Amino acid sequence: MSTDPLPTFPPGFRWGVATASYQIEGAVAEDGRKPSIWDTFAATPGKVANGDTGAVACDHYHRWEDDLDLMQRLGVQAYRFSVAWPRVIPDGTGAVNARGLDFYDRLVDGLLARGIEPYATLYHWDLPQPLQDAGGWPWRGIVEPFAAYADAVTRRLGDRVRGYATLNEPWCSAHLGYDFGEHAPGLRDRALALQASHHLLLAHGAALPVMRENAPDAHHGVVLNLYPTYPASDAPEDAAAARRFDGFFNRWYLEPLLLGRYPADLWAAYGADAPAVEDGDLGAIARPLDFLGVNYYSRFTVAADPGPQGLTPVPPPPDAERTEMGWEVYPQGLTDLLLRLERDYDLPPLFITENGAAYPDVMGADGRVEDADRVRFLERHVGALADAIARGVDVRGYFAWSLLDNFEWSHGYGKRFGLVHVDYGTQARTPKRSALWYADLIARQRAAATDTPS
Ligand code: FCB
Repeated sequence: MSTDPLPTFPPGFRWGVATASYQIEGAVAEDGRKPSIWDTFAATPGKVANGDTGAVACDHYHRWEDDLDLMQRLGVQAYRFSVAWPRVIPDGTGAVNARGLDFYDRLVDGLLARGIEPYATLYHWDLPQPLQDAGGWPWRGIVEPFAAYADAVTRRLGDRVRGYATLNEPWCSAHLGYDFGEHAPGLRDRALALQASHHLLLAHGAALPVMRENAPDAHHGVVLNLYPTYPASDAPEDAAAARRFDGFFNRWYLEPLLLGRYPADLWAAYGADAPAVEDGDLGAIARPLDFLGVNYYSRFTVAADPGPQGLTPVPPPPDAERTEMGWEVYPQGLTDLLLRLERDYDLPPLFITENGAAYPDVMGADGRVEDADRVRFLERHVGALADAIARGVDVRGYFAWSLLDNFEWSHGYGKRFGLVHVDYGTQARTPKRSALWYADLIARQRAAATDTPS
């Protein structure tokens, strides 16, 4: 047991781990599942490193009971997983595939039996391919199929799930998918991406009332990837550039969801690329949330630039620590981000729904993975979170990304984010030092919570 000073968290705070369907499940053609845009994208030469695909991944579809046992041994209190739309409604619209839902039904019961709270995300990027063929997220007709899918899942899983998130990181779905071509479906068109962002938000808004009706005692929300953005200097041009970049990543999602409007500065800057929005859309998008999920990985520093974008991200200083993704390690950004959210919005309770890091882990001859850099990363971010909570931000839980090493999208299996090492040849799971550290943190937090007189 560590004797380090223990940061203080409020009673009832939940310590969890997170994963996503396409990244861990495999079994892409089983029990009626049909292709998603990620099956198609990964099968396209040159899109994913090493030609990796999610066809087998961590084989979690078959090994889920062992994976839940492992979580229980680590003492994890909550598990954020995602449901694969192409298992539940394989054609995107129409018939519900009961066998697809059976998997999540067993998973949820398995979690509850082990005393772990289930948190389900409905859309973590595996769109049924037929819906992309019909136009994908830039097509307004996608909204009703998403609501029907949300209906099928919440009808079946109901209140056994503690928290449902409609979307994971709509910025990534819209911009990595339709603007920068880095994620499925691999398109490069800013206007399409912005139209996609609007329909993602609208789909979220259309699904919420259906979900609430089916699972009135569950909490319903959405998960955003947010990046605190800092100006490169005190110059007013850099401050303006940072504000615009913050708008692009953060405010474009926060404002419609929390304030019922798109940010006027961004709307003007997008010009003809701004999305078509109909009367009533923003009201539907801004329905009250029970929680907002925040995924935090790093920050950006931005400077004004004479180029067409008017701004440019500035690389971290040479002595900055970086993860294997090249992302700057910046725990203070988490505190800054949470305080800023608290200052600028009337917030629902927050959860940190993802936080973690890829490092080039090595398994030693003794079979151990001593990932000291990941332990340090997590420790510092947990500390930064405790600071924000101590300064009044209402955060109810923290989910480490990720339980397992897994399919890291266009990087394939080469980037490892897990607390638990996966040998993709044998599917052996080995808890890394970070998993043991996390288990210890949870045990100490639990003990402290019991010791505290209420
Ligand atoms: C987030 C994704 C998650 C994982 C981490 C590293 O953007 O939600 O699936 O890839 O990054």
